[in-house]
Amino acid sequence: MYAITGITGKVGGALARTLLAAGQPVRAVVRDAARARSWAERGCEVVTADMDDAASLTAAFEGAQGVFILPPSEFDPSPGFPEARVVIEAVRRALQSAAPGKVVCLSTIGAQATETNLLTQRTLMEQALRELAMPVTFLRPGWFMENAAWDVAPARDSGMIASFLQPLDKAVPMVATADVGRVAAQLLQQTWHGVRVVELEGPQRVSPNDLAEAFAQVLGHPVRAEVVRRDTWEALFRSQGMKEPLPRMRMLDGFNEGWIAFEGEGAGIVKGEVELEAVVRDLVSQAG
Ligand SMILES: NC(=O)c1ccc[n+]([C@@H]2O[C@H](COP(=O)([O-])OP(=O)(O)OC[C@H]3O[C@@H](n4cnc5c(N)ncnc54)[C@H](OP(=O)(O)O)[C@@H]3O)[C@@H](O)[C@H]2O)c1
Repeated sequence: MYAITGITGKVGGALARTLLAAGQPVRAVVRDAARARSWAERGCEVVTADMDDAASLTAAFEGAQGVFILPPSEFDPSPGFPEARVVIEAVRRALQSAAPGKVVCLSTIGAQATETNLLTQRTLMEQALRELAMPVTFLRPGWFMENAAWDVAPARDSGMIASFLQPLDKAVPMVATADVGRVAAQLLQQTWHGVRVVELEGPQRVSPNDLAEAFAQVLGHPVRAEVVRRDTWEALFRSQGMKEPLPRMRMLDGFNEGWIAFEGEGAGIVKGEVELEAVVRDLVSQAG
């Protein structure tokens, strides 16, 4: 049986669907049982646990041949990342106590970066789980294509998408969450020893101009990308309610300056199948 956290989200959902299609037993680990009804209907066992509570997580992971860890996103972390550290310690203790057969943990492109930024939260998770006795895989996907959900309304209504990724013709590793979940399911079913890192991107790298073009194709009218100037970011993020914009700004700097990148290269990086235009088409139709 595979215990899956984040199952009500995009990656965890795709992962669980892949496992179920392969006839594998799945335990849905959720914080709110009401949100797991559709998974129970598909035959999953449902258990409730909080990602910051070692006791409930231990019970959720007990008896599992494999566990998938989806660390909750924290886009506005306090200095020193205390929110992530609480989750990391609970997850580490739970995995140590429950001792499942193996672990796949969702990490991120750039988790190896030494500069402090938003993704440092995953660097810390990797450091903690590396010490576990069981086999651990860190899956490091590129930028999620689904981040373009924010661009649907401006692309549709004003033919413009605002880009923090720059310059506009610089291609970045991006991947669809469907590919992330599918590959995570494959990894969970494999046998390996020790710690391994798997880096994953989509079929092609994507620049902001490519993203604008994908929107243009789907919407049937011109769409252009426009740079959001770096010197406006802090005031903009604060006006949107962020208290600590610096880690997010440094993450964007990392992509733009190239120090958030894959650690490996070439054939070592796993390629997904889902094309950008398919993701944009889904995002546009979901927006109604
Ligand atoms: N966006 C990117 O470009 C990118 C790139 C690389 C890696 N990632 C990683 O991808 C992950 C996000 O995956 P996703 O897109 O599938 O997310 P998602 O669709 O937003 O789903 C998030 C899932 O996590 C659960 N969750 C959130 N906070 C939780 C908490 N405090 N306790 C327990 N469960 C919690 C949610 O449960 P509920 O249904 O209860 O809310 C949901 O199942 C993050 O770890 C992020 O670092 C993102």
